[in-house]
Amino acid sequence: MSTATAVIEEQGTANDLGYHSFSAGQYRFERDEYFAHIYYPGGRHLMHVEAFLRALMRDVGWGFFYGTVNFDDVLGTLNHYGTVDLFVGLLNQAYKSRNRHYVETFNSKDLKKVFEAMLDDWTNEGFDPYAAPDETGNAYGPKRGNNSKALKRERIVAKRMVGLPGDLDIRTDAAGQPVNRQFLDVPQDQPEVHAEPGFEGEVHAFNMFAYTSRSDVTWNPSVVSNVKDSQICATTEEHMLPIFHGNDRVEWFIQICDEIIWDIEDGKTGRPRAKVVMRAGDVAAMPADIRHKGYSPKRSILIVWENNDGTLPQRYSSGQLKPYPVEF
Ligand SMILES: [Fe+2]
Repeated sequence: MSTATAVIEEQGTANDLGYHSFSAGQYRFERDEYFAHIYYPGGRHLMHVEAFLRALMRDVGWGFFYGTVNFDDVLGTLNHYGTVDLFVGLLNQAYKSRNRHYVETFNSKDLKKVFEAMLDDWTNEGFDPYAAPDETGNAYGPKRGNNSKALKRERIVAKRMVGLPGDLDIRTDAAGQPVNRQFLDVPQDQPEVHAEPGFEGEVHAFNMFAYTSRSDVTWNPSVVSNVKDSQICATTEEHMLPIFHGNDRVEWFIQICDEIIWDIEDGKTGRPRAKVVMRAGDVAAMPADIRHKGYSPKRSILIVWENNDGTLPQRYSSGQLKPYPVEF
């Protein structure tokens, strides 16, 4: 596979509805009032535009994330950390068995540029693809305005830990970060820290539930502490994960409150593997060879524990490591 260069279409290619089309290698993306159309050598794929923008937002915001971001059961990206595959049907058994899949590899930063430009052009005023459906406007119709401000939010990462001097601040009303309407019952007090003399600068704590209850986005992890390759990511979930995330390593989930129902499928074929209902206090290890999509009927808090060790994808895909972390 060769690395292609992504090309942003010239201004002036806007269609009658005001939307520009975009190209990346041999892919071409167009939108109309309701749908995103993805043209590729050998075919054309179509997605409901709101679902497409919500998925695109995660792919851009997460920098293609760990492993696979499946926009639906056909279209997606596969991260090689520096380069990224944009594929149609690669992880769909029917496409693959009939040799109808198509894959092109890009420098990650080139494809990200095209995705960012497309997301900005196709997102209308009042629609925030990071927000829960009940907290934002609609994505449809002819082009009207933009919502660049909402799109420029980046995934927030603490250098060491939230609240330390020089690190991410604790969220407050004063900073414009109110408690979400569905988390009014989450206590907002902060822990008391009583360090031994001489250790005042080395002990720290903050109320992570309070911090997370003030997140205004859904299905977008905030990395709240970072110790070597161990990343604790807190996230608020409402409605459904806009993608199927395909793991390339084990990923741990800790359900903090309320409930998420997960669809688990085989990562390569999409064949259903399990339904997992996680309630407050439940812990699950998502295996390295699956994809998952979550449904959260009420806004809930989930901790995602990621292992950032760059050697893991190869060790799992080669079979050196089993796809699950423990045998009972
Ligand atoms: Fe995931």
